[in-house]
Amino acid sequence: MCGIVGYVGYRPVQEILLAGLEKLEYRGYDSAGLSMLLDDGTIESVRAVGNLSRLRAAVVHSNGGDESDGAVATATRTVTSGIGHTRWATHGRVTESNAHPHYDTSDKIHVVVNGIVENYLVLKRRLSDMGAVFTSETDAEVIAHLISHHMALGSLVGAVRAAYAELEGHYSFVAISADEPDTLVGARKECPLIIGRGDGEQFLASAIPAFLAHTRDVQYIENEEIVVVRPDSVEFLEPDGTPIEREHTHVDWDESTAEKGGYETFMLKEINEQADAVAETIADRTIRPDGVDLGEAELDESLLDDVERVLILAAGTSFHAGLIGRYAIEEWARVPVDMDVASEWRYRNPIVSERELVIGITQSGETADTLAAMRLARERGAKVLACTNVVGSQATRDSDGVLYTRAGLEVSVAATKTIVCQVAAMYLLALRMAEKRGTLAPERIAELVAEIKQLPTRITELIEGLNGSLMAAAKRHATSDFYLYLGRHVGRAVALEGALKLKEIAYIATDAYAGGEMKHGPIALLDEKTPVVCVATDMPILDKMISNIQEVRARGAHVIAIATEGDDRLEAVAEEVIYVPRTDWMLQPLLAVIPLQLFAYYVARERGLNVDQPRNLAKTVTVE
Ligand code: AGP
Repeated sequence: MCGIVGYVGYRPVQEILLAGLEKLEYRGYDSAGLSMLLDDGTIESVRAVGNLSRLRAAVVHSNGGDESDGAVATATRTVTSGIGHTRWATHGRVTESNAHPHYDTSDKIHVVVNGIVENYLVLKRRLSDMGAVFTSETDAEVIAHLISHHMALGSLVGAVRAAYAELEGHYSFVAISADEPDTLVGARKECPLIIGRGDGEQFLASAIPAFLAHTRDVQYIENEEIVVVRPDSVEFLEPDGTPIEREHTHVDWDESTAEKGGYETFMLKEINEQADAVAETIADRTIRPDGVDLGEAELDESLLDDVERVLILAAGTSFHAGLIGRYAIEEWARVPVDMDVASEWRYRNPIVSERELVIGITQSGETADTLAAMRLARERGAKVLACTNVVGSQATRDSDGVLYTRAGLEVSVAATKTIVCQVAAMYLLALRMAEKRGTLAPERIAELVAEIKQLPTRITELIEGLNGSLMAAAKRHATSDFYLYLGRHVGRAVALEGALKLKEIAYIATDAYAGGEMKHGPIALLDEKTPVVCVATDMPILDKMISNIQEVRARGAHVIAIATEGDDRLEAVAEEVIYVPRTDWMLQPLLAVIPLQLFAYYVARERGLNVDQPRNLAKTVTVE
């Protein structure tokens, strides 16, 4: 995910911005930039592709090689206000012109933006017609031109408020104007933005580590608020201009806690980022109420035409995301889908045809087996679509098109936010294929688009309501040395993923089975000590799953059920029921996987384990 840092005060800004961006490096980025307000009424901007050492080098170069005082050499005084950004590409390739800050045609308004502007195409068209000259492929640039357009209102804050009223999406941004030195104006819609208070200086950032070296006095900008930041003051405003009082909070985190956004581990932080990650993944792709758009720079939608068969290849958690995708593609687009783990398929002397679409799912884009399988499929004539989280990864080069998830960097070895984004991407793909093939009625597509758009809100509700019950269940079962996971239909992938998570981070033996297969062997494992996690959310054969749960109960085993809100049938058959919000049944797996991530997390913590770095595992498996 991108990072924002801003400073206004009395000290040389350049080093404060660069050091602040370095503290946000853990979020992942592919390019970076700074803009600084000079007192000659201009803005100096430097951007670079690659890591921050490249940006540093570019800044030194633009200073004429003088790095001595951390100030910009072209300024007539020490430059003391500016904004910086680390970009993780979503719209547009990784290029210097797509890096932030972005600026308007007169080069007087500069902005740094996190998140997605959903209606950027409409705004871009309108602003271009009025003469704005766009210099990037990004959605973010539209904000600079829009603010510039509204500068006729007389002030930067007035222009930001007017622009904010027109922007749709999920974003936060900070703007500066060459005409108003010593002022930063920020706006928040969903994506985080935080103020660090100083004496005669103020900081603004997307995460606290960016300014923790300077201040621990923090003010949180709430959703849908605007801030005006000057060296001696910070004003909080409603979008209509009404002032808001905001309390100060003292943050006593150490650096490592700060990096984790205050969470005790990266895994917990990343679990809590899932609503944002899904929102970014679906944002601009679900603008149309009557369908989905996937056509972007690296995905020509004609790749989806004339496909007779889909084959999904992946490993681990990504394979489980594919399994959910299989149900969605078959159900909605009525295209047959085969699947295999990449490490097996590639050695099967596999048969593929030109009318086959092979989807390689890999969050890292670097998993050796998945890459080898994708290459083999391509050699044998299939069209290959990569679904990955990493721009420029090998998978993007070994494919005919890329469908990006936008989860941001995932530090923890255990995949959490990346699987929910992969599942969301599979839903979008399945729906687009259905739309192209006419296999779903337009009303049904509209209904599903509306439900998909609600997913981030449902994830937030779900996570907020979960902790108590899951912690209690984890405590109760933390010493068990074997767990069985059961699920059927779309719930089977969720069971497989829940079992993998518990193995991976809590080192507990698990088995995961299709509910209907239990009686063919695994039932022999059950006794009154066995915890059995049953995925029983809404789906077409839920009754059959409930019968399987009854079979488990009859052996005296302890049932922990994941069910859909409003379905009280599970109360009668399970000792513990964890509810997920009701949505269309096909979307339930995306929600149901979240309590199982948290359950594994709490069990592992009960056992005192380091969940971010489980033994014997690495984040990316690049050896064959
Ligand atoms: C999941 O928690 C694991 N870390 C692992 O199974 C992972 O999903 C697998 O190695 C595939 O990785 P990829 O998505 O980067 O290809």
